[in-house]
Amino acid sequence: MRKKIVAGNWKMNKTHSESIALINELKDAISSDLSNTEVMVAPTSVNLFPSVSAADGTSIEVIAQNMHEADNGAFTGEISGSMLKSIGVNTVILGHSERRAIYGETDELLAQKVDAALNNHIRIIFCVGETLEVRKQDQHFIEVANQIRKSLFHLSAADWENIVIAYEPVWAIGTGETASPDQAQEMHDFIRKIINKKYTSEISDNLSILYGGSVKPNNAKEIFAKEDVDGGLIGGASLKAEDFLAIINSI
Ligand code: 13P
Repeated sequence: MRKKIVAGNWKMNKTHSESIALINELKDAISSDLSNTEVMVAPTSVNLFPSVSAADGTSIEVIAQNMHEADNGAFTGEISGSMLKSIGVNTVILGHSERRAIYGETDELLAQKVDAALNNHIRIIFCVGETLEVRKQDQHFIEVANQIRKSLFHLSAADWENIVIAYEPVWAIGTGETASPDQAQEMHDFIRKIINKKYTSEISDNLSILYGGSVKPNNAKEIFAKEDVDGGLIGGASLKAEDFLAIINSI
C-alpha cells in the first residue's frame, strides 16, 4: 500500500530558534498513531542539523529543500547529498518550481540531481507542475509528462522505491488559488498512468503522489479525499503549527 505523506516546505523562512520551536510544537501534538502517514518538515539548510536533533525519536522526518548534483568540490555555497546524509537527512525535495524558475534548474540538471540523491541513498520528493500560461494553452499534461520523462525515466524500476512525486501547479503556489480537487485528481491519475505505461502497475500503484499549492486547513480534506492524492507538500500553511496540524489531521 502506498504511503500517505504530509510534508511542510518551509522555504526561506524561520531562524534557528523558530525552527526548533515549531518542531517542538509539532512533536508534542502529533500522535504517535499516524499509522500509514509520514510527516516531514523541510527547514532551510542552515537549520537542518539542529532540526534533525530536535526531531530525533519523534515521528517527524526532517528533509532538505535542495542539494547539489556533485558529491564535493569547488561549488561555493552548495550542499551535497553526502553532506545531507552525514547529518541524518534521508529525503530531499528536488525540482521545486522556485528552483526551476528563479535558479534556472533544467530537467537535465534535475536528472543529475536525482542520480546524485539516489547514489547517496536519499529519497526524493520530485516536484512537477505547469504555469498558468501553459494550462491556458491546454498543454499542462504534456508539460508535466515531459518533466517526468526528462528527469526520471532513465531510472531503474528499483529506483522508484525512493521516488515520491509532488504535483504543484505553479499558478497555485503561494497565490491562495488552489487546483480544484478534480483538477488535482485528473493530473495525479495522468501521472500514475504514464508511470504505469513506462514501468509496471506495481510501481505506479506504490508511488505516492502529493499535491502542493495553497493547501490550507479549510481545503485539505477534500483534496486529500481524492483517490490518487496521497498527501500534500505544504508551503505557507506549514509555518504555523496549528494550521499544519489541522492539515495533517485532514488526511
Ligand atoms: P503554498 O502552500 O504556500 O502555496 O506553497 C506550496 C509549495 O510550494 C510547497 O512546496
